[in-house]
Amino acid sequence: MAVIDVVNLSKAFGPKVVLSNVNLQVEEGESLVVLGGSGTGKTVLLRNIMGLLTPDSGHVAVEGKIIAQLSRKELFEVRQSIGMCFQMAALFDSMTVFENVAFGLRRHHKMTEAEVRARVEECLSMVGMKETEKLKPAELSGGMKRRVGFARAIALKPKILLFDEPTTGLDPVMTDVIGRIILDLKHELGITSITITHDLKSAFEIGDRIALLFRGECIACEAPAAFKVNPHPVIQQFLRGDADGPFLQDPPPPKRKSMSNSKEAHA
Ligand SMILES: Nc1ncnc2c1ncn2[C@@H]1O[C@H](COP(=O)(O)OP(=O)(O)OP(=O)(O)O)[C@@H](O)[C@H]1O
Ligand SMILES: [Mg+2]
Repeated sequence: MAVIDVVNLSKAFGPKVVLSNVNLQVEEGESLVVLGGSGTGKTVLLRNIMGLLTPDSGHVAVEGKIIAQLSRKELFEVRQSIGMCFQMAALFDSMTVFENVAFGLRRHHKMTEAEVRARVEECLSMVGMKETEKLKPAELSGGMKRRVGFARAIALKPKILLFDEPTTGLDPVMTDVIGRIILDLKHELGITSITITHDLKSAFEIGDRIALLFRGECIACEAPAAFKVNPHPVIQQFLRGDADGPFLQDPPPPKRKSMSNSKEAHA
């Protein structure tokens, strides 16, 4: 049985169809990466898995439980096994960095204060944020907030982790650090994860399989090696990062003259 089972999931907002019959299965201990252009429904997909949105049709099951059919109490219990790293960090502004990371530990676990402190410090050290534990989120840069959000998501060592662009806005070295932590969690704790990213390098490093959402549909979900050579024109355009091709709904502006030409024009 898949740990996360997305079955014929469709979701629209008014006339705007965002997800259309999406099917995705994530097995225990597997790391799935989801790619897709901006606005293709990646965050909406995660919000359906968390039960923060309800499908129009189809369903999401986590460990065999259909999320939309759960009572509030049952949903709370399922969410306890999921760590979510939100796209916008979603830290509590009135709490310090330390308190933000400690929040879930204090709420869900019967840990002593010393154990909480040790785990918070361990998680903050992993993402290079230990020195900032007394600061408030307003005193942090965007990338620093993201790292704190990541530390908070992994603090509980949940069975399932959902990462919504955990590395966007981070420098390449910190991006690699986060990728390695995700891999370590998978290998050491057998954590099942879905990571949304725009960073192809980390996608290929951390994904056991890679999915691509395009115009509401999942057009591929396969091992990185197969994904790389998938001849689908949208996949190849996405991998090239090229403006020309079927990926964009509207055609791109014509290519500008090269710099050397424009210099000649001024001469
Ligand atoms: N609660 C909502 N109400 C109305 N429309 C929404 C809501 N949530 C998302 N949408 C719309 O659904 C579409 C997909 O949004 P989503 O946030 O999932 O995109 P995304 O793939 O995560 O993009 P990005 O890479 O920019 O984060 C967008 O057009 C967005 O405006
Ligand atoms: Mg998003």
